[in-house]
Amino acid sequence: MKLVFATNNKHKLEEVQAILPKEIELVSLKEIGCHEDIPETAETLEGNAMQKALFVKEHYDLYCFADDTGLEVEALNNAPGVYSARYAGPGHDAKANMRKLLRELEGKENRNARFRTVIALLLDEKEYLFEGIIEGTIIDQERGTAGFGYDPIFIPSGYDETFAEMGNEIKNTISHRALAVRKLADFLSTLSVKE
Ligand code: IMP
Repeated sequence: MKLVFATNNKHKLEEVQAILPKEIELVSLKEIGCHEDIPETAETLEGNAMQKALFVKEHYDLYCFADDTGLEVEALNNAPGVYSARYAGPGHDAKANMRKLLRELEGKENRNARFRTVIALLLDEKEYLFEGIIEGTIIDQERGTAGFGYDPIFIPSGYDETFAEMGNEIKNTISHRALAVRKLADFLSTLSVKE
């Protein structure tokens, strides 16, 4: 079965394909001829993921899923959350986002945070949501060079290294995204068993 993953991020496609049952063939936005920027204007991760999946369904009439991820920091009322990519403002990069987060956390004792990924799947006129969460803490300066986004300042619970220090191989087995994708994979496997 062909399934559109509403992304053009090659790394994400490979990471997710490796976890899904092999009967599922992932197809990127580029491969279906979708070259526009899909709107992500919702105020929740669930809303954005569903908005992206619905866009593909409405314009291309294909089975598809989409993901959205945010870093939720307890002491900041779960900010930056759905705004994680543009926390320091439009056009800012990961460094600027991390700098802003560390500034906001200055003097705060509670450093608890979690990455949360939501996947929205549209299949046979039905909508499904899958969630992956990894808890951890935000440290006060960057450590490590692997990964992306907020990886250099996030230490997952039970580990001593930041995501950026442990590297993608370990990170991709324990991450929020991996947890959400495994739930999606389990669900899709039950469908292929029934077929
Ligand atoms: P997206 O929904 O996967 O595009 O993620 C939105 C934003 O959340 C990214 O631009 C990053 O700032 C942040 N983010 C998502 N996943 C990760 C991760 O695994 N590590 C660090 N930051 C992440």
